Amino acid sequence: MTNTILVTGGAGFIGSNFVLDWVKAGLGTVINLDKLTYAGNLENLSAIAEHPDHLFIQGDIGDRALIAKLLAEHKPRAVINFAAESHVDRSIHGPEDFIQTNVVGTFNLLEEVRAYWNSLVEANPEIKNNPPFRFLHVSTDEVYGTLGPQDPAFTETTQYAPNSPYSASKAASDHLVRAYHHTYGLPVLTTNCSNNYGPYHFPEKLIPLCLLNALNGKPLPIYGDGQQIRDWLFVKDHCSAIRRVLEAGKLGETYNVGGWNEKANLDVINTLCQILNELQPRTDGKGYEEQITFVEDRPGHDRRYAIDATKLERELGWKPAETFETGIRKTVAWYLQNQQWVHNVTSGEYRNWVNKQYSGSVA
Ligand code: NAD
Ligand code: TYD
Repeated sequence: MTNTILVTGGAGFIGSNFVLDWVKAGLGTVINLDKLTYAGNLENLSAIAEHPDHLFIQGDIGDRALIAKLLAEHKPRAVINFAAESHVDRSIHGPEDFIQTNVVGTFNLLEEVRAYWNSLVEANPEIKNNPPFRFLHVSTDEVYGTLGPQDPAFTETTQYAPNSPYSASKAASDHLVRAYHHTYGLPVLTTNCSNNYGPYHFPEKLIPLCLLNALNGKPLPIYGDGQQIRDWLFVKDHCSAIRRVLEAGKLGETYNVGGWNEKANLDVINTLCQILNELQPRTDGKGYEEQITFVEDRPGHDRRYAIDATKLERELGWKPAETFETGIRKTVAWYLQNQQWVHNVTSGEYRNWVNKQYSGSVA
């Protein structure tokens, strides 16, 4: 066993933030396995491209031979699974990739991790009592389904009721992880986090999409009445929660991660516009909120998500560092300072998606 960790999906939005923070903090070596789908971007990792503690491997979590080889070669003390298809609207247009990666891919990964764990136990049966290895599965609050206005926030015991192909595929993977602990004794941890935002967020999701459309003089598309509620967490806070759960979480348990920041979509976009009005005002003197456009709602759109993060706070002492107001300001500033990154990710495949999703009406 080494101080190395294997991270999957570490070239995506949350994974790359996690890997950057881990390597910069000197926490050990990261083997970063990512398929580099449209959502994976090596440019996110350019700051550590040559770093001796970072080894990038392009590959699929469903490639069992590759996973077996990486585990045998690097003997990681943890596997952290970020790899997934993650966008609800894409799952509505084409669910198959979601089943392949989120369900079948996670299954294949688990099978190889189980073989690796068995080999560790065979070599030293004592470790079963205090496992030096763990598999941490990164999941979402969307598995719990939707809440009414007065319902209490999701806790770890809320019944799963996923409504989109995306959330159903994530729920399936969560169940597999749980079953591998219950049946095979695999040392697992699962985190279910609310909506993230921050640097390196691919601009198909609400906040970066509207931020870039605002700057480009395009409409800001709000689905339906814009009163759907999401619970927002700055991505670096999600990463700190994962580190804490990895370090101190009780094996076999799940932890909800959230920042107590419930906001209606329209309020989020109005806040974004106000910050942009201040930091980079429109040349015609008008406000960016003029660009808000209501468009057709998402089919099966969940009305409200809210995370109760009490367990993580009480048992593991975790707290988010950012409020929504401080986090969104940092996010806007990052996008304004990283126009080259924006330019590079919004070429090619990105344009095809925007044309398909918004019928050419907003982009
Ligand atoms: P993302 O779409 O930005 O990144 C996913 C990454 O996984 C990409 O780099 C992609 O190339 C890689 N990938 C996809 N399929 C793969 C495969 N078969 N093998 C290897 N790599 C593959 O997603 P994200 O927003 O960074 O989300 C990361 C994880 O966190 C996901 O599991 C997601 O369900 C979960 N999550 C996301 C949010 C959020 O708000 N974004 C909230 C809670 C949980
Ligand atoms: P999104 O960022 O896709 O995350 P998720 O669906 O995983 O919560 O969407 C966040 C919210 O914003 C969700 O209620 C859908 C809404 N939304 C819009 O109103 N317009 C858009 O163009 C997008 C992408 C999302």
